[in-house]
Amino acid sequence: MTKRELEHAIALGSHAPTDAFELVGTELSVGTQTVTEIVAQAGGTPLYLYSEAGVARRVAAVRALLPTGVRLFYAVKANPMPALLRAMATRVDGFDVASAGEIDFALQAGMPAERISFAGPGKTVDEVAAATRAGVCVTAESAAQLLLVARAAQDAGAPAVAALRVNPNLELRGAGMRMGGGASPFGIDEEAIPAVLAGARNAGMRVAGLHFHFGSQILQGATIAAAMRHCAARALEWIGQGACAPAWVNLGGGFGVPYFPGERALDTEPIAAALADIAAQFHAQAPTVELRVELGRYLVAEAGVYLTRVLERKVSRGKLFIIVDGGLHHLQAATGTFGQVLRRNYPVADARRLAPVHAAVAVSLAAESAVADIVGPLCTPLDCLGRGVALAHLAPGDLVAVFRAGAYGRTASPESFLGHEPCREVLV
Ligand SMILES: Cc1ncc(COP(=O)(O)O)c(C=O)c1O
Repeated sequence: MTKRELEHAIALGSHAPTDAFELVGTELSVGTQTVTEIVAQAGGTPLYLYSEAGVARRVAAVRALLPTGVRLFYAVKANPMPALLRAMATRVDGFDVASAGEIDFALQAGMPAERISFAGPGKTVDEVAAATRAGVCVTAESAAQLLLVARAAQDAGAPAVAALRVNPNLELRGAGMRMGGGASPFGIDEEAIPAVLAGARNAGMRVAGLHFHFGSQILQGATIAAAMRHCAARALEWIGQGACAPAWVNLGGGFGVPYFPGERALDTEPIAAALADIAAQFHAQAPTVELRVELGRYLVAEAGVYLTRVLERKVSRGKLFIIVDGGLHHLQAATGTFGQVLRRNYPVADARRLAPVHAAVAVSLAAESAVADIVGPLCTPLDCLGRGVALAHLAPGDLVAVFRAGAYGRTASPESFLGHEPCREVLV
């Protein structure tokens, strides 16, 4: 940790600390605004609180890794909250979207159409037509999608231009979610790309971009670096052979976030080294190509916290349950039911009784030997935000913070399940 990180880090027990927020006394805050004040202004809990400064710091940290000229794209799916998207639009170089709805969000946030790419399997004729009308580049994930783009262009009297998503032929170890290598609904198999490029050329289509997204939630920098080197090598090979002349190559990202106990923050050094090599190779062999890196959760997860209020303490056969007003319907990922194999806790804390890190003494003031389960209001045992956490002191009215909640939260959860109120969201 750097000195600044140490000064700003908030200890989260056996979870990696976070520097995305501040403390006023022992209370979680954004700048000098405490969560008590923010919750009151927002009209109550449950509430997603995002720190604009936290996002800005993370974007700046990523930019510091990127060689000059390498562009940073944000994957809107990670968090499409309008105010956050507007803040992001001024800080990154483009957005990647996954539906016609996200195209609208991106345009409304002020991102110019030519800086938006549209990936995703299963695009409809209407979505491709909408993207074409808006001037958004469609990333074809199959030969069939390429045909859809050609037809939409013909109907619109526009030139037929598309990007291709490549399913790279690589072994990804340690990815939370593999999205490349092996059989996949995402992208066109690397081996098939030369034939698809030839077909596109024969049909008079221009391939404007090559898009590699090999995985998500990867916490080993060396794994990401190796994958990016592989993708860059393939792109340079095809360009060198004259098979395509893309304006951009998106090397993907997959940068992970330490959600669970014992996980460490991503080591970005190998990625920076790989990108420096790749940028130099492109500079020498394909100098007009714009290189892109595309990140979702890494830019926003840490800058978000989910705040929920304690309603009740309940003991059942000797076990303590802290019942709160938020849960699975807003933040499914924290309940372990969003793709995790083993249920592990997100960092959960008493939002008004946190301690700053002082050198090696990383303690939460809430640390106690007695434990409790933090459970939500849904009628399912799956609605558990923290199992066996050292927060047995919590009383009705207290605020519970679930950290690393800024990505795949509200819009990746079954909000209408059981008809509870939608969640509030605020960017401070
Ligand atoms: C094409 C594409 N880009 C970017 C992402 C974002 O991944 P992450 O949030 O892990 O960075 C995804 C995730 O599914 C994706 O499918």
